[in-house]
Amino acid sequence: MEHWHKRWLNNQTGWHKSTFNELLVNHWPAIDVPPNCNVMVPMCGKSLDMIWLAQQGHSVTGFEMVKKAVTQFFSENQLDYEIEDKNGCSMHVSEPFAIHHGDFFQLKPEHIQADAWYDRAAIIAIEPSMRQAYVKQIRNQTRPGAIGLLITFAYPQEQMQGPPFSLHDEDVMELFSNGFEVKCLEHVQLDDEKERGLTYLTSSVFKITRNED
Ligand SMILES: C[S@@+](CC[C@H](N)C(=O)[O-])C[C@H]1O[C@@H](n2cnc3c(N)ncnc32)[C@H](O)[C@@H]1O
Repeated sequence: MEHWHKRWLNNQTGWHKSTFNELLVNHWPAIDVPPNCNVMVPMCGKSLDMIWLAQQGHSVTGFEMVKKAVTQFFSENQLDYEIEDKNGCSMHVSEPFAIHHGDFFQLKPEHIQADAWYDRAAIIAIEPSMRQAYVKQIRNQTRPGAIGLLITFAYPQEQMQGPPFSLHDEDVMELFSNGFEVKCLEHVQLDDEKERGLTYLTSSVFKITRNED
């Protein structure tokens, strides 16, 4: 956890993009998320993708453990907010956004009941040993039938230290094998592997549907 506080403190936030994620924009309209629903965004940083989701008519429930990221999200998007104590976090609210400042793993079961979720640079940001706990939280905080869009990143783990940690397609299939339906929508070869000293670098997009109970 110390890692992320240092990264934000030192403005080492190279993952943050000043444009909407192309894979989100391309795939979200086709994954049958109900209109105007509540979308959970774990480990949200100050991602502009939350703005895009709100523009589609959704309400957005984010989780971020570094306060600077949460406050910058609102200030950089010229949004006033109010703070409420909720779900064991301090929730920063400016409709349609509710960004929780806190540890995603500390959330008690069924606090959120999201209709959908979006993960870009969230599961790959955490230690691989925490992945099962992450999947359990996704299950605990979503409704039956909830739809997720997951964007991954894969490379030979021995060639680079995470985060981001490598997550291969077969790992996604295995992690979500119980209680979810998983569909790979796109597999992309990224072309910046050489400058990172990697023999390959890929990204995949998955639609992950929570089974009805
Ligand atoms: C690689 S960044 C990605 C942020 C965002 N998803 C994006 O695409 O810009 C990962 C973020 O997760 C946050 N984070 C890491 N572990 C967390 C946890 N357990 N609970 C909440 N946030 C966490 C970090 O502070 C960091 O802002």
